[in-house]
Amino acid sequence: MPERGLDSVPFRVWNEALTIKTMPNINDNFLKLQAGYLFPEIGRRVNAFAESHPEAAKRLIRCGIGDVTEPLPMAAIEAMHRAVDDLSTHERFHGYGPEQGYFWLREAIAKKAYQAHGVHVEVDEIYVSDGAKCDTGNILDIFGPGNRIAVPDPVYPVYVDTNVMAGNTGSSSPDGSYEGLVYLPCTPENNFVPQLPDEHVDLIYLCFPNNPTGAVASRNELLKWVEYARANRAIILYDSAYEAFIQDSSIPRSIFEIPGARDCAIEFRSFSKQGGFTGVRCGYVVIPKELHGYDSEGNKVSISRLWSRRTSTKFNGASYIVQRGAAALFTMEGMAQTAALISHYLGNASLLLNACRQAGMRVWGGENAPYVWVQCPDGLDSWQMFDKMLHEANVVITPGSGFGSRGEGFFRISAFNSRENVDEVCRRIHSLFAR
Ligand code: MLT
Repeated sequence: MPERGLDSVPFRVWNEALTIKTMPNINDNFLKLQAGYLFPEIGRRVNAFAESHPEAAKRLIRCGIGDVTEPLPMAAIEAMHRAVDDLSTHERFHGYGPEQGYFWLREAIAKKAYQAHGVHVEVDEIYVSDGAKCDTGNILDIFGPGNRIAVPDPVYPVYVDTNVMAGNTGSSSPDGSYEGLVYLPCTPENNFVPQLPDEHVDLIYLCFPNNPTGAVASRNELLKWVEYARANRAIILYDSAYEAFIQDSSIPRSIFEIPGARDCAIEFRSFSKQGGFTGVRCGYVVIPKELHGYDSEGNKVSISRLWSRRTSTKFNGASYIVQRGAAALFTMEGMAQTAALISHYLGNASLLLNACRQAGMRVWGGENAPYVWVQCPDGLDSWQMFDKMLHEANVVITPGSGFGSRGEGFFRISAFNSRENVDEVCRRIHSLFAR
């Protein structure tokens, strides 16, 4: 390898005789990542706009990142206050908790989030964490190199970027896709629910209700995926962070409602959107005991054993205070308050959906999901639409192309906002586009 020079001093010096390397190597895979992560990049552009247009910046309404705006359910607030007080006493003090999460929270999840809906999940199959974003990224720790990995397109960028970081891809193409990943097109023609791939894949990311398109998958569609995964010995990484938004009782909230899924799926869930916990941080992973992967010699290995080992090594558990808050969401009051929160955001989604529709745009999502997915009008591309909304309506949206090449020509509006702001966004969409 030729040495690179820096002021005539060798930049990288190897002492081959002693095999001592004198400078740290970085993970080169990070250099394959494109620019910034989508939301910080949007933040950067919005800040630049605000600096150069201070008056318009006062009118800015942010419907870009899916971050909650409303106060937390009071049941969670009160439980967290009590938990803080616990820590002030010797009797109720808590230091390190169990890495997998406190039993009382895992039991509440098993009973209220699954068994109450007729889904078989056991307490020791649940791993409490600080959020689904971390979990969907960290899960790659337990999978080896060489897997064929399928991701929807458009897609929540975390799935792709964490695979790039892990070295599971080649470099990126001008359209933003990465060599080595199998992209599953999600388009108006398939209602944004991907078709099965023609080839074998080992890991499949699915997210329903979907971020960014707001699409939901029917029982039959999920059944096809479970059958495919079982036939191909593949594992489905199922992100159901938005399940609480499902209103239609015929739509599955969990992949484990589908027969056979316990053999082939991991489910990721979050309190971020359900309970307004984006700033509090709590989520969980469900790994059924039946789920296995294979070592390099083809022996079956329990996935939960690996995840448990990973978790106890790298994580000391979500905080006691936060877990008390999360558990309170499953009390009678907590569930009623959560339902009111969800209904507020879904009301927003419905207003945004109608405003875009009345302005003549094609829209999807927004009925069982907090995201409205819109085709850009007038042949604009996604970033042109972002700029138009920012400069002419002073509204921040998310450009669809930021979620993948199939997102080009679309944009996403997040319904996480106050009703007052959403009403105002609807007025601005009307005055900008209605003809
Ligand atoms: C989004 O806007 O897509 C969400 O905030 C993503 C997330 O929850 O990390």
